[in-house]
Amino acid sequence: MFRKDLVKIKAYKPGRPIEEVKRALGLKEVYKLASNEVPFAPNYIKKAILKEVANVNRYPEGGCFYLRRALAKQLKVDRDQIVFGNGSDELIVLALEAFIQKGDEIVVAYPTFLIYELQGMVKGAKVRRLPLKDFRYDLDAMAKAITNKTKIVFIANPDNPGGTYLNKIEVEQFLKKIPKNVLVFLDEAYFEFAPSNFPKSLNLLKKRGNIIVTRTFSKAYGLAGLRIGYGVTTKKIADILNKIREPFNVDRIAQVAAIEALKNKDFLNKVLKFVKKEKQYLYNELKKLKFDFIESATNFVLINLKKDTASLNEYLLKEGVIIRELRGWGLNNFFRVTVGLHKENVKFIKCLKSYMCCQNMYGKITKNVKCKTKNHSAKLKITKVC
Ligand SMILES: Cc1ncc(COP(=O)(O)O)c(C=O)c1O
Repeated sequence: MFRKDLVKIKAYKPGRPIEEVKRALGLKEVYKLASNEVPFAPNYIKKAILKEVANVNRYPEGGCFYLRRALAKQLKVDRDQIVFGNGSDELIVLALEAFIQKGDEIVVAYPTFLIYELQGMVKGAKVRRLPLKDFRYDLDAMAKAITNKTKIVFIANPDNPGGTYLNKIEVEQFLKKIPKNVLVFLDEAYFEFAPSNFPKSLNLLKKRGNIIVTRTFSKAYGLAGLRIGYGVTTKKIADILNKIREPFNVDRIAQVAAIEALKNKDFLNKVLKFVKKEKQYLYNELKKLKFDFIESATNFVLINLKKDTASLNEYLLKEGVIIRELRGWGLNNFFRVTVGLHKENVKFIKCLKSYMCCQNMYGKITKNVKCKTKNHSAKLKITKVC
């Protein structure tokens, strides 16, 4: 009775939750470095959230009035240009819902954030995938791939899982090549981490129209568990997206927390400083181990293991460290690691060294690496002990 074309669409597999790994492996302590979350909670939101708990018997204000007012002021846009979503993921679904009819096309890079093409297929779109070049968007090829059936072109900037970004000039030149009737979806989930030559997308929206810029409270603001993101676009498009979203898609607690997040710049600054420092720690350690990795404009790093990551993933899970394998992206030899707390990053590096040692990759890496994890050879059921 259901649509048969849905059967062949693969479900999106998110990073494994801490609770699930604890249950499955009987571990007490698990470090999650898999879903690009901030590794500490914004405790300053507690008071506002507890106050809001008194109202949870009532539906939330669907239009997010107070949050909308605060965000519009901060971004210097009109209030009715904003659409809130249950995470910025929801904006992807809403845009597809609004623009795609069966047989229409979307243009995406590959590999990039998978939701564009998965949800595109769910809506019946034909997906045109343009391979990345050295983990950077090939904007020329993407512009050339546009046909009169193309409705949306998706750009993750900064990109996931690569962590690379497109600068102001690159995006401006790209926009000149895109027909005005194609929606340009600028997904800026990692906007806050990006460097200073990053595009001023909201100005581009003023000039061009037919752009939606999406951002999220899940990453630098540390609210991934509350599910709240937003899109800024033209009033006309916002009006359509607001029509088709569920009336109460953003709950009360998320709205209140997001208002506090906008007010409290200290937490955001702390996160940005922290990520910069710890990312540098990871870079330094990875360099010592002679790993190939991509310098990232985000809070995660893409690493090339140069062999299938399955056994590394298994090893790290047993040690209580969750990383992100990239099999779903076709990147079987790569994995992604989120910047965690210092102790989490140290443990990750320590386990990585032990793993390399166990795999007899030791000699190829550096003579100074010593395997310090007790009993790791037993855990891995391998005969070689280093
Ligand atoms: C590029 C990109 N876009 C969007 C999202 C979705 O974020 P959320 O739905 O939590 O706002 C993510 C999450 O990992 C992402 O990496």
